[in-house]
Amino acid sequence: MKEIKKITCIGAGYVGGPTMSVIAQKNPNVIVTVVDLNQARIDAWNDADLENLPVYEPGLDAVVADARGRNLFFSTDVEKAIDEADMIFISVNTPTKTYGKGKGQAADLKYIELCARQIAAVAKSDKIVVEKSTLPVRTAAALKSILDNTGNGVNFHILSNPEFLAEGTAIVDLHNPDRVLIGGEDSAAIEALVQVYEAWVPRERILTTNLWSSELSKLVANAFLAQRVSSINAISELCEVTGANVDEVSRAIGYDSRIGSKFLKASVGFGGSCFQKDILNLVYIARSYGLTAVADYWEQVIILNDHQKARFAENIIQTMYNTVNGKNIAFLGWAFKKDTNDTRESAAIYVADHLLEEEAHIVVYDPKVPAEQIYKDLDYLGTRSSEDNRRLVTVVNDPYEALQGAHAVAILTEWDEFRTYDWAKIREEMKKPAFVFDGRKLLKRDQLTSIGFDYYAIGE
Ligand code: NAD
Ligand code: UDX
Repeated sequence: MKEIKKITCIGAGYVGGPTMSVIAQKNPNVIVTVVDLNQARIDAWNDADLENLPVYEPGLDAVVADARGRNLFFSTDVEKAIDEADMIFISVNTPTKTYGKGKGQAADLKYIELCARQIAAVAKSDKIVVEKSTLPVRTAAALKSILDNTGNGVNFHILSNPEFLAEGTAIVDLHNPDRVLIGGEDSAAIEALVQVYEAWVPRERILTTNLWSSELSKLVANAFLAQRVSSINAISELCEVTGANVDEVSRAIGYDSRIGSKFLKASVGFGGSCFQKDILNLVYIARSYGLTAVADYWEQVIILNDHQKARFAENIIQTMYNTVNGKNIAFLGWAFKKDTNDTRESAAIYVADHLLEEEAHIVVYDPKVPAEQIYKDLDYLGTRSSEDNRRLVTVVNDPYEALQGAHAVAILTEWDEFRTYDWAKIREEMKKPAFVFDGRKLLKRDQLTSIGFDYYAIGE
């Protein structure tokens, strides 16, 4: 088996950056180069001040500090990095298609194909090409065809190695993964990648399968996780009308070892770049094979999630006497979950959009998301002009400024710091009656009601 001395990763995003940083940290004898077309992103990865890394993840700064400049490099020179590598990870984005066939459902593979064509054009020696991006099942066949038909006659072995890290806990997940999954056909290529991971992952947690099982397992893992969230969110609505409490129900069912306690936290709805995109992709694949019942089954996970976001916004409007026009609503949190600066598909975006249609004035505070990202997220929806978004939404850097004079507070992200605020002081500065709509079940009902808040939480 060929020893891997140089690894290149194409795509320096939320997956490529942290994953390669850990691979480099744990394999000091392997040179790891992460390349991206986005110069600003690469500059941020190379920034001397680790506060400026483009991805915020607890513990990432320490890993980068360990390896960067030693055997970890970030560059925009894609061709050089491809040329020199023994193993090339493809970790580019695979968003939902916004045009043509499969629009709104299928994964857009144009970035993947561009990578394959570039690898084929540049490579002058044999390469192992690793799919790190999440891809539709059977993409490896398309990659192989492009590489073999447009290349310089060198050999390419394709592996599937999907990533299971969750944002906010990426470094913990990478350091101590439940499992690493490697799919492939060539045993020597598989073994080469196993060795990279064996530097820190116990052998029994490195699973090997055929290519198609590996590709499909990633979509299925995300679908199962998201399905649990939608299942408990469906029950949260039932709790609200029956007097049951969804946290108590979660606890009661989670003690059953067959069900398990994780991923049963009711919320304003799941967000993030993966769940919706990957389920839509799964639905699209099932439909394309004519499996209507399978597609309908999984599509319901998304339908319920959209319903959960909409009903959270509707409840705010109804509770506030059926009008939020001109009222100040403070948003605590904009990221799709705590401990990340990522806002992709965040529930906050859709709740805000719903309230803005009713001419509410929203003041947002998030500890890690900058104002320009918040406006970009709203502008992207195209519901109203960018001027109107700026007129109706204010972004502040101090939470107390957001809460000053607010008619209501909506908690959209479960940042720990929100718990530590002086809620008695906040109520004093708010308009009365002072409403709290807790989309994360973060605060304590007894405490808030004893201070005098009108407190509403999902599933109670
Ligand atoms: P991202 O958008 O943060 O990063 C992708 C990067 O690839 C971008 O910086 C982009 O500029 C770069 N890129 C695109 N085409 C390129 C090209 N031809 N050459 C060089 N660079 C190019 O995306 P991400 O969140 O890191 O996700 C990447 C993949 O990993 C997706 O398939 C996603 O589904 C999957 N994934 C994501 C997560 C997650 O938590 N974000 C977890 C598991 C898997
Ligand atoms: C997910 C998968 O967990 C990870 O394995 C995969 O690699 C990428 O997609 P991520 O989206 O980063 O990770 O975060 P995750 O912790 O799964 O949360 C996704 C969304 O579900 C968040 O909005 C979160 O707040 C929400 N969620 C999660 C709930 O509402 N309730 C829960 O019990 C768990």
